[in-house]
Amino acid sequence: MRNYIGLIGLAVMGQNLALNIARKGYSVSVYNRTPEKTEEFIKDRVKDEKIFPYYDLKEFVESLEKPRKIILMVKAGKPVDDVIQELLPYLEPGDLIIDGGNSYFKDTSRRLQELKSKGILYLGMGVSGGEYGALYGPSLMPGGTKEAYEVVKEMLLRIAAQTEDGPCCTYVGDDSAGHFVKMVHNGIEYAIMELIAEVYDIMRKVLHMSSQDIGNVFEKWNQGELNSFLMEISSKIMKFTDEETKRPLVELILDKAEQKGTGKWTAQTALDLGIPTPTLNLAVEARIISHFKDLRVKLSKIYSLSISKIPLNKEEVIKDLEKALLFGIFISFSQGLWLIDEASKVFNYNLDLSEVLRIWKGGCIIRAKLLNFLRDILKEDLSNANLLFSEKAQNFIKDKIDSVKRILNIGREENIPLMCLNSTLDYFYALSTENLPANLIQAQRDFFGAHTYERIDKEGIFHTEWEKLE
Ligand code: 6PG
Repeated sequence: MRNYIGLIGLAVMGQNLALNIARKGYSVSVYNRTPEKTEEFIKDRVKDEKIFPYYDLKEFVESLEKPRKIILMVKAGKPVDDVIQELLPYLEPGDLIIDGGNSYFKDTSRRLQELKSKGILYLGMGVSGGEYGALYGPSLMPGGTKEAYEVVKEMLLRIAAQTEDGPCCTYVGDDSAGHFVKMVHNGIEYAIMELIAEVYDIMRKVLHMSSQDIGNVFEKWNQGELNSFLMEISSKIMKFTDEETKRPLVELILDKAEQKGTGKWTAQTALDLGIPTPTLNLAVEARIISHFKDLRVKLSKIYSLSISKIPLNKEEVIKDLEKALLFGIFISFSQGLWLIDEASKVFNYNLDLSEVLRIWKGGCIIRAKLLNFLRDILKEDLSNANLLFSEKAQNFIKDKIDSVKRILNIGREENIPLMCLNSTLDYFYALSTENLPANLIQAQRDFFGAHTYERIDKEGIFHTEWEKLE
């Protein structure tokens, strides 16, 4: 009897995904570059699941039923290419490789083309939800040919997180659509994380709240409109005590945020495609700035940007913070969805934005109650990718905007950086402004470089000799 599917890469995500698949009744062959990891996995975690270890790649491939289905859960980048090269001699046309890592979408496109010429099917599949999601039900974002998706559709739908709107898996679209959508998911993830962190900063520095109290407020918010995975874990983090010191652990963690690249790719891609995603971009910048700890310490001594303690009504500020956070998250989705929509047009992904929101409803890091609202907006008009045109959005924004302004004013007054939150309001203002000062930019460009400009009073392309050259 051959096994249904193979999985290569037994780091945390790979192990949990293999267990998830096996617990849904499928037999799984597993392989890892370092055999010790495979042995450890089988010994420590596999009980009566039908998971079979292989220590030789050829035997691993031969253990699979045809057409073979192999999931790669290896580090993005060169390791994916290396494994594919190693696998190729043993594969036959019609076999399927699924890359479940956080691969760069352009790599996925390239691999898809290369493998297509050999008759091998390929899916670039975003997998979100961390180790818990991988084990109990992730959000799955597979992209590639429909033919490839059909081969594993049934299994993917079964292992994905389940919601009242169905399993959190859909055929996302052609080519690298799956990894593109996962990349933007992560861009939005960075933005929401940074927005929550900015709100936390105001609570601790301006409202002088303890971590425990902040945790209580986050917990309360999590029962309302802000209900989401990131809100939930943030409330738990705030209340978590360090065993050794008996202090809240969060207060002992060094304020240098790391990143593995997906947020940066989102920003880079948005710049390439010409879609404004300032909040997503600034979430990356905020992580970069956080890294300059020594420099920040030195500058903080020079500039002593102290908190001035303006009189504030704590309850009112907390209400404003809740609304400001909702606005910020809404705008982060507005930017991310617009970017996905543009990519769908440019790269012919042919994807359905409403389906993307549906499969983000469970399993993934950015799952949130707000997604239902965003889906309602999109259902009215699928072309409203940045969400801003609907009446529902207008009412939502009108209800939040004064709170956002008040919080931003507190930030300015009290010298608190609110990079992402500031950008959400500027994005909204700039997009909703009829006359931007870009006329001056055009004049400057034409002045120093004869770059030409258009006029509002007549058709055509113009250049002016702004100064006579002697
Ligand atoms: C997910 C996450 C995950 C991501 C981590 C770390 O959806 O499960 O997005 O894929 O790799 O969150 O990302 P950074 O190290 O870049 O913060």
